[in-house]
Amino acid sequence: MKIIMLGAPGAGKGTQAKRIAEKYSIPHISTGDIFRANIKNNTELGQKAKTYMDKGELVPDELVVDLIMDRFKQADAANGYVLDGFPRTIPQAEALDKALEANGESVDFAINVEVPDENIINRMGGRRACVGCGATYHIQFNAPKVEGICDTCGEKLILRDDDKPETVKNRLSVYHDQTQPLIDYYNKKNVLREVDGTQAMDDVFKAIVDILG
Ligand code: AP5
Ligand code: MG
Repeated sequence: MKIIMLGAPGAGKGTQAKRIAEKYSIPHISTGDIFRANIKNNTELGQKAKTYMDKGELVPDELVVDLIMDRFKQADAANGYVLDGFPRTIPQAEALDKALEANGESVDFAINVEVPDENIINRMGGRRACVGCGATYHIQFNAPKVEGICDTCGEKLILRDDDKPETVKNRLSVYHDQTQPLIDYYNKKNVLREVDGTQAMDDVFKAIVDILG
């Protein structure tokens, strides 16, 4: 199964993608997590990506597409995946379609997690992210068992550099400008499904499982 998570920054794409990956035994591929791991390890890719991410802007398509094509070659991606944060522009979606078509494949579901902008700003300040495994927590809605430590891998939790209110505002505007057009793109391909992301996390997940079967 090949699934794409669509939605604004902070809509809950990562939260739900992790649960989908566990339930359907497919890898959770998050371009944002891959970039953050590269920033942590101070790789050349990480240094390049950081300059864009810190401003809330998108990393250039070429860099992202190369990275994702490379990731697809790993054995765990052979039976599908849940993509979180990719594609994020029309050219990225076209590159994905082209790569899939070359193997006679296509996207099965593009799930749009809908959350209005006003709810997003409140969510971001409370988010804590694990730099080890990419797990996401919220100090109020989804607290880790031990404060500041990841339940899954025991690494330290951080407040993301791009979760400052000014940067979140820019990320939202970049989202509306460059990523929202993908909703229409996948609707035309009849794979778009919408879920109300303002519900509690478990209810959002139930709605997604109803769609995926
Ligand atoms: P990325 O890491 O993908 O960030 P994003 O899209 O802005 O999304 P977030 O990770 O902020 O939010 P999310 O939807 O995953 O929400 P989460 O589950 O954490 O990208 C970061 C940057 O990398 C980009 O700005 C760009 O620069 C670059 N980049 C990445 N991919 C790229 C690409 N393809 N092309 C170009 N550049 C790219 O949830 C948010 C919070 O809310 C958490 O604290 C969570 O616990 C809480 N929460 C979740 N669900 C609920 C709920 N139902 N109720 C209450 N709280 C909830
Ligand atoms: Mg995320």
